[in-house]
Amino acid sequence: MIQKILCIGAGYVGGPTMAVIAKHCPDVKVTVADINADRVRAWQSGVPPIYEPGLVDVLRVGLDRNLHFTADVEGAIAESDLIFVSVNTPTKTFGQGAGRAADLQHWEKTARSILRHARGRTIVVEKSTLPVRTAEAMDRIFTNGGADKRFEVLSNPEFLAEGTAITDLESPDRVLIGGAETPSGQAAIGELVEIYARWVPRERILTTNVWSSELSKLAANAFLAQRVSSINSVSAICEQTGADVLEVARAIGTDRRIGAQFLRAGVGFGGSCFQKDILNLVYLCEHYGLSEVARYWEAVVAMNQYQKERFVQRMIRAMFNTLAGKRIAVFGFAFKANTGDTRESPAIQVCRELLAERAQVCITDPQALASARHDLADVGDRVSFELDPCTAAAGAHAIAVLTDWSEYQNLDYGRIHAGMERPAFLFDGRNLLDPDELHRIGFNVYSIGRPDRTSL
Ligand code: NAD
Ligand code: UGA
Repeated sequence: MIQKILCIGAGYVGGPTMAVIAKHCPDVKVTVADINADRVRAWQSGVPPIYEPGLVDVLRVGLDRNLHFTADVEGAIAESDLIFVSVNTPTKTFGQGAGRAADLQHWEKTARSILRHARGRTIVVEKSTLPVRTAEAMDRIFTNGGADKRFEVLSNPEFLAEGTAITDLESPDRVLIGGAETPSGQAAIGELVEIYARWVPRERILTTNVWSSELSKLAANAFLAQRVSSINSVSAICEQTGADVLEVARAIGTDRRIGAQFLRAGVGFGGSCFQKDILNLVYLCEHYGLSEVARYWEAVVAMNQYQKERFVQRMIRAMFNTLAGKRIAVFGFAFKANTGDTRESPAIQVCRELLAERAQVCITDPQALASARHDLADVGDRVSFELDPCTAAAGAHAIAVLTDWSEYQNLDYGRIHAGMERPAFLFDGRNLLDPDELHRIGFNVYSIGRPDRTSL
């Protein structure tokens, strides 16, 4: 029976996931280890280094009891029965496969460290998203461990989405566990199943072979991203034809075979994983000589890129083909609402293109201003940052809504409009606001995939 769990990597996945496991397994010691001492200190203090609704409460339950954070990765490895590896696996930026393949350096360092410091029998669980057949490489590293060490490698990819991580973890659609089809592999699967079964109904715990589990994670993200790109491609047709993408999404989403979720057209998907995981899939396809399959998935990323570019082109066109010297208030910098995460946020590209047009950009976001400052550190004083959206919009020629924060729905747009330059423009990159209402106030409104409401 598992008594001591370790998670290596105290990030967006490791922290929340272990907090929920610790909550439901009070008799198990759960430790999260990270080489980033600042992150560890933040978790230990009960004020996590990431913003995630509901996280603080779950974290504090564990911190008072069986949840620990440490920067002593090696010491923690030595005393654990089961180790989740939840380190970052970003897109490689150098060498072979640059721009596509997953950068596995953190993962491999972790595997070697586990090999050196583990004692007795250890179950190693891939929590990070990894290329298919990574478990094989892990197994090969572990075969050098000597007679006193035994390892069993499982794949248990994480499907949480940021902003809803705690509810996703508390009530997952499924938990996926892949393992070797050997007696010891099946035994290890059984032990991990028993952990999740403390709070997840057994019929939602799926067990597969390792390769199916690894591939399912990449495929799930590819399918979700594909839906966003599909509806975004439809939004472009809507803008040309007078169709309304919200009406089209409702019409197609009510077909139960299609379903209503992930049909919100917008300025493009962001986040640390969709693009990374599709590119990883593309690289894998190329590796196996499946170039047609690679091109198919690549198109999902290309459509996303096009959607971001299209958004800025529309702004330029609407604002008389020049943005030079104009103040643009950017509402939202996070890649989605309810997170402070800006990794691959469409706002990064949109702001950079606006700055290239010599606009003065003022960014507001309730949680992501620190990250925004960091992401745009190189652009100097043509970008400014304001916590209050009304102040950001004061004296602006245009507002661009780039994140779907619900607080932007409750602002006094009459007052905001009164403080803006005329004609005042509003580009709603998330179809968050009521265009008719804004038009009545006096804005020229451009939503995604919906007819323009203009008075020009
Ligand atoms: P993250 O960057 O927030 O966290 C990773 C952590 O690992 C960092 O704190 C880093 O310091 C630590 N780390 C790196 N190398 C280490 C080492 N050798 N020893 C100890 N710690 C080390 O990343 P994340 O968003 O939590 O993602 C982790 C993995 O989970 C990725 O593979 C990602 O694709 C996957 N994933 C992420 C999400 C998400 O919503 N962010 C959801 C599902 C899956
Ligand atoms: C996504 C998946 O939903 C998770 O299941 C997965 O675990 C995670 O990636 C991961 O592997 O990292 P996440 O990126 O946190 O989660 O957030 P999503 O809700 O999927 O949104 C991703 C992006 O797509 C956001 O920029 C969002 O604004 C955009 N999106 C989403 C749309 O533009 N339209 C939609 O209808 C849905």
